[in-house]
Amino acid sequence: MTKLVLGIESSCDETGVALVRSGAGGALPTLLAHALHSQVQMHQAYGGVVPELASRDHIRRVLPLLRQVLTEADVPLTDVDVVAYTRGPGLAGALLVGAGVACALGAALARPVLGVHHLEGHLLSPFLSADAPQFPFVALLVSGGHTQLMRVDGVGRYELLGETIDDAAGEAFDKTAKLLGLGYPGGPALARLAEYGDPEAFKLPRPLLHSPNLDFSFAGLKTAVLTQARKLESAVCELPRADLAASTQAAIVEVLLKKSLKALQATGLKRLVVAGGVGANQQLRIQLNAACQARGVRVHYPELELCTDNGAMIAMAAAMRLQAGVQQPRSDYAFDVRPR
Ligand code: KG4
Ligand code: ZN
Repeated sequence: MTKLVLGIESSCDETGVALVRSGAGGALPTLLAHALHSQVQMHQAYGGVVPELASRDHIRRVLPLLRQVLTEADVPLTDVDVVAYTRGPGLAGALLVGAGVACALGAALARPVLGVHHLEGHLLSPFLSADAPQFPFVALLVSGGHTQLMRVDGVGRYELLGETIDDAAGEAFDKTAKLLGLGYPGGPALARLAEYGDPEAFKLPRPLLHSPNLDFSFAGLKTAVLTQARKLESAVCELPRADLAASTQAAIVEVLLKKSLKALQATGLKRLVVAGGVGANQQLRIQLNAACQARGVRVHYPELELCTDNGAMIAMAAAMRLQAGVQQPRSDYAFDVRPR
């Protein structure tokens, strides 16, 4: 029997609500509607996410977004079978808003609730695209807080192959962007500026590129860019910001590309799934596509608008977990969150 699953995402600076219908038999769940409010403009003035402001804004936005989704899907709230929410990781206060609303709705409707891991939402988000992957695959998860390579054999069957030992790829984009005075969020801004720069202008480090394992390290990159910037500034040179942006992006992309290829080789798999905010990066996509095509590997991405945080990925992950029978929804409404 199919189920209507409502999903709420509120882990950081986007409020997302979505409704999916779980698939009958082995069919994939389908997205009926989703709505998103980004707080980016609100946090821009502070150069980063202000947790208290994020929580307050989630409270303001979540119910109007819910109404929007129900109207768009033409579904009465009482038809919802399960209410899913992001359980973590994320900002504690922000997570509590989504969890609180989900549990309140669940209690009022006498429907169970289900907490979803934010990263699993990203990981399964490519299943929302028209070109959905098939298991098994290698996943490159690249967000603001995580950089991981995984072997994925099915829903809930994940083997960590490698991860960052310090900063995440998104963090490297964001921190370098801040250094270059590009504001927040840094990733997209740095990528835009990089289009006008020479990716080979600066020799920046590619830490752990040749290490035998599949781990990453990005913390040194920011320091290297800072060193270059200070050298130029002390020589009273105008900062070639576009060249620095392009060189930074080239370093990050090269490491992500080489390690992904290494993971594909190690597992012998011929399918790669790229998810998380950095998956929206065009250079990364261009280079991964070319390298994978040359090796007979299929690459899958979420739709561009679903690369960054959204409610659709949470509703989807919940529906897929329910369908696969790997998680039972709860009716105790004890809304627990796991910030870390
Ligand atoms: O997945 P996400 O929305 O949130 C987390 O779960 O962290 O990822 C946000 C990260 C940020 O670091 C942002 O700068 C980065 O994704 N990002 C990008 C691009 N779009 C978003 N990085 C590089 N190029 C982009 N086009
Ligand atoms: Zn995320």
